[in-house]
Amino acid sequence: MKHFTKFESKSIADNLIEKALFYKANPRVDKALGEGKRIGCIFLNPSLRTRASTQIAAINLGMEPIVMNMDKESWALEMHEGAIMNKGTVEHVKDAAAVLGSYFDILAIRAFPSLTNKNEDLADFTFNQFVKYSGVPVISLESAIRHPLQSLADMVTIQENWNEKRKPKVVLTWAPHIKAIPHAVANSFAEWSIGCDHELTITHPEGYDLDPSFTIGAKIELDQEKALEGADFVYVKNWSAFNDYGKIVSTDDSWMLTEKHFEKAPNGKVMHCLPVRRNVELSDEILDGDRSLVQEQAKNRIYAAQAVISQILG
Ligand code: CP
Repeated sequence: MKHFTKFESKSIADNLIEKALFYKANPRVDKALGEGKRIGCIFLNPSLRTRASTQIAAINLGMEPIVMNMDKESWALEMHEGAIMNKGTVEHVKDAAAVLGSYFDILAIRAFPSLTNKNEDLADFTFNQFVKYSGVPVISLESAIRHPLQSLADMVTIQENWNEKRKPKVVLTWAPHIKAIPHAVANSFAEWSIGCDHELTITHPEGYDLDPSFTIGAKIELDQEKALEGADFVYVKNWSAFNDYGKIVSTDDSWMLTEKHFEKAPNGKVMHCLPVRRNVELSDEILDGDRSLVQEQAKNRIYAAQAVISQILG
């Protein structure tokens, strides 16, 4: 594996899930694998889980992680080719990424979308500039359109909580939020869930269709109550509009999941990548109750990252 940026194939995903579960049971078994190697974790945006879990994963493999909060602690980066840098930007990504590539064996980058420049976001422009100029393997810590480490941890969590022979019925439901939120988690979850052969239904209010390139193979059901019937796993996430790009087109509170939504899905487990706005996206009763897998998901972030880093080192 050179870079880790998206779902590639079911066999690669199955292998990574198996590896993550192995590391969960044996976290330090490969502590010599990364000896003498460094991973640079570059954050252009805030993070709690991704920041901590990726460092722990690297340490478990004997690597030295170094974190840079590029948005706060570094020079303002210019991303565009041929720019005349006579305004706010101080250093070009061409130079910065090449320097970082010479310092680290692996780079891991978080670069959120603008939610204003749709074409650049869809091209994963900022993230791909680092891939282009660093010259070393790059792991996505969430790009403009995908969050693959989160999705891998989500697949691990589903596998751990599913013992039946049939495919799990998985529902990805939009939830209300007060801010315009990126599509990366929802896109990526759909991509991995479909790729891992789940029976996926996506439900959202009108106007919140995701980028169709991520949802081929999923059932789209605009009636949330109908979508939730018989669900085994319900993944809750807000996202802003894709067609009316980056806009909030509905704030319908009735989409916030409560116990009442599970009358026809009595065994449904609830997932969320966190951070979550309590009693806006999801009720306290759900988050603090037996349905919730959110803490398991967050813990599995360590082993998902460990599997990926190990695969790249290997
Ligand atoms: N789920 C997730 O990526 O969390 P952070 O944004 O805190 O890293």
